[in-house]
Amino acid sequence: MCGIVGYVGKQSALGVVVDGLKRLEYRGYDSAGVAVLDRAGDLSVVRRAGKLANLTEALAADDPARLSGTLGIGHTRWATHGAPTDHNAHPHVDCTAAIAVVHNGTLENYLELRAGLEDRGHTLRSETDTEVVAHLIEERYDGDLAATVRSVCADLDGSYVLVVAHRDHPDRVVGARRNLPLVAGLGDGESFLASDVTAFIAHTRKARAIEQDHFVELCRDGITVTDASGTQVEGGEFHVDWDISAAEKSGYEYFMLKEIDEQPEAVRETIGGRLDQSGRIRLDELALSDRDVQEMTQVVVAGCGSAYHSGMVAKYAIERWARLPVHVEIASEFRYRDPVLDRRTLVVAISQSGETADTLEAIRHARRQDVPVLAVTNTVGSSVARESDAAFYTRGGPEIAVASTKAVMTQLAAVYLVGLYLAQVRGYRSTEEVRSHFFDLEQTPALIAEVLARMDPVRKLAREIAGNERVLFLGRHVGYPMALEGALKLKELAYISAEGFPAGEIKHGPIALVDKDTPVVVIAPRHALTPKLVTNVQEIRARGARTIVIATDGDDSLVPHADDLIRVPDTKSLLSPLLTLVPMQVLAAEFAVARGLDVDQPRNLAKSVTVE
Ligand code: AGP
Repeated sequence: MCGIVGYVGKQSALGVVVDGLKRLEYRGYDSAGVAVLDRAGDLSVVRRAGKLANLTEALAADDPARLSGTLGIGHTRWATHGAPTDHNAHPHVDCTAAIAVVHNGTLENYLELRAGLEDRGHTLRSETDTEVVAHLIEERYDGDLAATVRSVCADLDGSYVLVVAHRDHPDRVVGARRNLPLVAGLGDGESFLASDVTAFIAHTRKARAIEQDHFVELCRDGITVTDASGTQVEGGEFHVDWDISAAEKSGYEYFMLKEIDEQPEAVRETIGGRLDQSGRIRLDELALSDRDVQEMTQVVVAGCGSAYHSGMVAKYAIERWARLPVHVEIASEFRYRDPVLDRRTLVVAISQSGETADTLEAIRHARRQDVPVLAVTNTVGSSVARESDAAFYTRGGPEIAVASTKAVMTQLAAVYLVGLYLAQVRGYRSTEEVRSHFFDLEQTPALIAEVLARMDPVRKLAREIAGNERVLFLGRHVGYPMALEGALKLKELAYISAEGFPAGEIKHGPIALVDKDTPVVVIAPRHALTPKLVTNVQEIRARGARTIVIATDGDDSLVPHADDLIRVPDTKSLLSPLLTLVPMQVLAAEFAVARGLDVDQPRNLAKSVTVE
C-alpha cells in the first residue's frame, strides 16, 4: 500500500527520492517522509502528515546543507498502524538516529517485539509496527548492515518491504522483501530501489525484481542480492519499455482523465500482434498444450474490485465462444471456500497492479493444488505475474489514478482474446469465425475513440446530477458487470451510494430505492434482451426516477423512456462493455470534479492493495 524509494549514486538523493515519491503517491498518500545522509555524516529525517506537497513544502523551508547528500530513502504512506500524523510517518529511526527505516506492509508480531524492546530500554516514539525494525537493527548491528537486516527479518511475521540506511554506510542501502513488490533500478554509477519502476524510469530502464524473501544491497556500482542465508543469488534483469511521459499528466488536470483518453491506444496495444499469418489467435504465453486446452473442464477467474468485473465479462465470452463452464470468484473469498479444482481447471487471475494480496493468495491456493494459473496483468515482473504459470501482459502503460480505467479496459480486451483462443483450440469455433470475432475486436479502439469524442453531454449531465446522494446502475447480460463497474467508479470517486444490479432483479427488492432523487443509469446496448430492458426502465420511470440510458446508435427502442440518452456506436453485443464503460468512467470523474474531490487519489483507497 505504501510507496518506497531508495537511492545511492551521484545525484542529489533528495531530488531523486522526492521525484520517485511523486510517481508513487498513488500507492498511499496520507503522509510522507525522507531520510538523507548529509555531508556531515548524519541522517537528516523530514516527515509530514498529509499529501506529499506538505513534505515538499517542509523540505523547501529546511536547511539545504542538512539535506544535501547522495544517499537517501523515502516513503509515502497508507496508514495501517497509527494515525497519519507526522510522528507516525516514515522513515523511523532507532534510539541513536543512526538507522532509518521505511516499510511497506504489516508486521503481525510487532506488539510482542515492541514490548521486548521497551523492556530492554529502547524508547519508541510512534504507534507504528515499523519502528521496531529500526530498534532491532540498532540492537543487533555488528558492522554488517545486510547481515543484521537478514537476522532481524528472520524474527518478523507478516509482510514487508524494508529499506534501511545507516549513517556508518555512506555507500549502501539495504532492502528486504516478503510478499510485497520491490524492484531495483540499475543506473550508471547509481542504483535505485522502489515499489515500482515508475519511481526511477526517468533515470534508468534497466531493472531487476527482488524475489520473495530476498535481500538487496544497493551500491553506486551495482546491487548484490542474497537469500535469507546470505548466499548470493543471480536473477534476470529486464528492460522497462514505459517512457517517462507515459507516467506524467501531459496537461490533463487529473491522471484519470488522461488515462480515460488513452484507452483506444491501450486496447490496440493489448490486442496487437495476436493474430499469426495463418489467421489464428496467438497466446503463446499460456504454455499449455493444445491437448491440455481440449481436455480442460472449467475455468475459474479470480480478481478483486474492477478486475472481478472484468472476470464476469470473461465468463460471458468464454462460455459463449469456447463452451467451457466459467466460475468467477472474488479472490478474497475464493480460497476460504475450498473450491473444487483439478489439473483440468485453468485459473485466470486478473490484477492490474499484479500485487493485490487477495489475488496472490488465490494464485498460491490454486498452484498448491497443481492447477495451472494464467495471470492477466498490466505490470511486468509483478508478483502475480511471477507466481503464475504464465502471464498475459495487457500492455496498457502505467496507470496512476487510483480508480482503474484503461487497465480495466485492457483486461476486457485480454479476456476476449483468451476466450477466442480457447474457442479456437477446443474447436468450437471455426478459424473463420474466430478471425471474424477478432476483427470485430480490432475495430473497437476506433469505436472507443468515437465514444470519447461524444462525451461533452455526459460531462454536462454529471454536473447536473452531482448533487444527488444515490445513483443506481442497471444492465443485463454483459451490461450487468458494467453496471457494477459504473457503480464502483462512482462510489470510489464521489463517495456516494452507488449500486449496480442486473435489471431483471430490480423488482425483487432494489426498486424500493428508486425515487425522484435517484438517477438510474441503464446500460442498454443493442441486444436480444433490450426489449426486456424497456419494461424495466418503464417501471423505474413510473417511480419518478431520472433515467439515463446508454444505447446503441440506431436503436430507438428505449428513446421514449429515456430522460437522457447516451449513444455508443454499434458493435457485437458481447463486445459492448468496451464501449459502454467509457461514459460511466467520464460520468464518475466529472461527478467527483463537480463535488470538488480529488479524482486521482480518492479517500481511503490505494492503487495497490497489498494487505488482505
Ligand atoms: C478499481 O477502480 C479499484 N481501485 C479496485 O477495485 C481494483 O480494481 C482492485 O483493488 C483490484 O486491483 P488489482 O487489479 O490491482 O488487483
